Amino acid sequence: MCGIFGYVGARNAIDIVIEGLRRLEYRGYDSAGLAGVQENQIVFSKEVGKISVLEREVRKQTFQVPAAIAQTRWATHGKATQVNAHPHFDKERSLALVHNGIIENHDDLRRGLKDQGVSFVSETDTEVVAHLIAYHYDGDLLGAIQQAVAQLKGAYAVALVHRDFPDQIIAIAHEAPLVIGIGNHEAFLSSDPRAFAFYTRQAIYLSNSEIAIIKAETQHVYSTHASIDKEYCLLEQEFGEPSKGEFEHYTLKEIYEQPQTIRNALASRFVVEYGTAIFEELTFEDRDLLSVERVLILACGTSWHAGCIAAYMLGELAHISAQVEISSEFRYKNPLIPPGTLVIAISQSGETADTIAAIREVKAKGARVLGVCNVQGSTLVREADETLFLKAGPEIGVCSTKAFTSQVVVLSLFTLLMARMRHMNKTEGQEILEELLHLPEQVQTVLDQASYIAEIARKYVDYESFFFLGRRYMYPTCLEGALKLKEMSYINANGYAAGEVKHGPLALIGEQCPVVALCADRITYGKLLGNLMEIKARHGKILAIASQKDRHLEEIVDDVIYVPVSRDELAVIPVTVVTQLLAYNIAQLRGMDIDHPRHLAKSVTVE
Ligand code: G6P
Repeated sequence: MCGIFGYVGARNAIDIVIEGLRRLEYRGYDSAGLAGVQENQIVFSKEVGKISVLEREVRKQTFQVPAAIAQTRWATHGKATQVNAHPHFDKERSLALVHNGIIENHDDLRRGLKDQGVSFVSETDTEVVAHLIAYHYDGDLLGAIQQAVAQLKGAYAVALVHRDFPDQIIAIAHEAPLVIGIGNHEAFLSSDPRAFAFYTRQAIYLSNSEIAIIKAETQHVYSTHASIDKEYCLLEQEFGEPSKGEFEHYTLKEIYEQPQTIRNALASRFVVEYGTAIFEELTFEDRDLLSVERVLILACGTSWHAGCIAAYMLGELAHISAQVEISSEFRYKNPLIPPGTLVIAISQSGETADTIAAIREVKAKGARVLGVCNVQGSTLVREADETLFLKAGPEIGVCSTKAFTSQVVVLSLFTLLMARMRHMNKTEGQEILEELLHLPEQVQTVLDQASYIAEIARKYVDYESFFFLGRRYMYPTCLEGALKLKEMSYINANGYAAGEVKHGPLALIGEQCPVVALCADRITYGKLLGNLMEIKARHGKILAIASQKDRHLEEIVDDVIYVPVSRDELAVIPVTVVTQLLAYNIAQLRGMDIDHPRHLAKSVTVE
């Protein structure tokens, strides 16, 4: 959610920050801007639209700056206009800054500054920070920033250049990710270290109310009143340059990577002989795991759907009662966390602000937190007690695809481990493992049907409203399938528990609102067929995704896509891959910007 990039050093700072922004474009893409200091003046450019628009404008200028800051925006306060795009300035244009996050008390601060005669040009909360620092500035920039930071409320990351200090950038971070990269006589700054990992893997993570003065040769970090010794860390993960390869979109590439990403999630994490799972990164003692009496799962978006599936699995297979909560709701509940509770926080990015706030709340109440995450070094990984990694590789498409299936695999393995430590016998454990190990080839079987799924997509492309219906494990799978269609093609799609349809949604069913029926849960299959009959009786068009050939089903539905037969909890994966391809194809036929759906961002670092 807004990506910040900064550079100071001997290279062409403008080229480097534009390249950095491209790597951060997944965080926001409604406008972009950059700034530096040239001949003691702030120079800048900002444009509405993608980074390519900014780049075109910048190429018309002759910027030569020793240090630059840049930002790609996801609008929170104020529309996506050129005036609201970052950087923002004080009245004298003595400084320029870019910002990610929200200044919660911006209204109060704005009022106070207006009383001092300051006038504002944008609708953003960001501009308040620029004026506030300028208001305190009397030649001591650090001191002015320290005074300003003491007044700011909210979660924010800021990068700033000042005309009196052309060869430095200043970073400020409070509960929002911002990382310094230390190179050879040069330094980088980014909301995501992946954006500079190509140049250096030495990093300093900034945290609560920290201020860094970043020069090519030195990087000093301060609190609001003192200097701080920060530890350097080495970025663990090798981040290759992302590439679409032969695919038109990252999203499609990531859908096709799933046989491999599922293999990665499984690799070295099971022992067939004992029918159980092992995680080398998990250092909880056996007695810690045995003392778990209940699990609380916290997540947002697609990760929450994986959490819903995990809650079913933990209850059914491991006999551990599990509650799953949307982080943004949970964080305001003042929850009871009884002893024996293990909190599992699921986040692909590890940066989702609501999930991070929710784990801080449960940790304050003494709970242990197990993260399930795809990004090494992310805030979740640093703050959780332990983390299970997805090993899915960077997910660039804004709509989560491969991360979801990897989350389900990792959580299945964790459930197996917990079940085997309790009541589950070896044979049942081995049966589950065998089915888990078949998943990559099952997903491949679905991918091999891509042209048939594309044909089906053509039949359904013109509808403006869909229901996804299913029961038990297929219910959260419906939520995820509907979300993919919404995100990729802007079609109104609702995931519903099929048994609930008669309690209201049936009123919407008719020829203009097709139903995608997820029929791969064997326990509720017969019941679901009953629900589909009710839909058919109301002239609803039905596309079924099913795992067993059934003449009766074929008589009820209009179209059917088959997936390989598997255990109910694992059928989630091949069925999801069908819904991903369906959403992708419908979106492509409608000419959507699939990797960058409007208004969305991959990493939601604001509340
Ligand atoms: C954003 C993304 C979704 C993702 C959600 C949670 O909305 O667009 O794809 O599911 O955030 O993200 P997380 O990184 O916590 O899994």
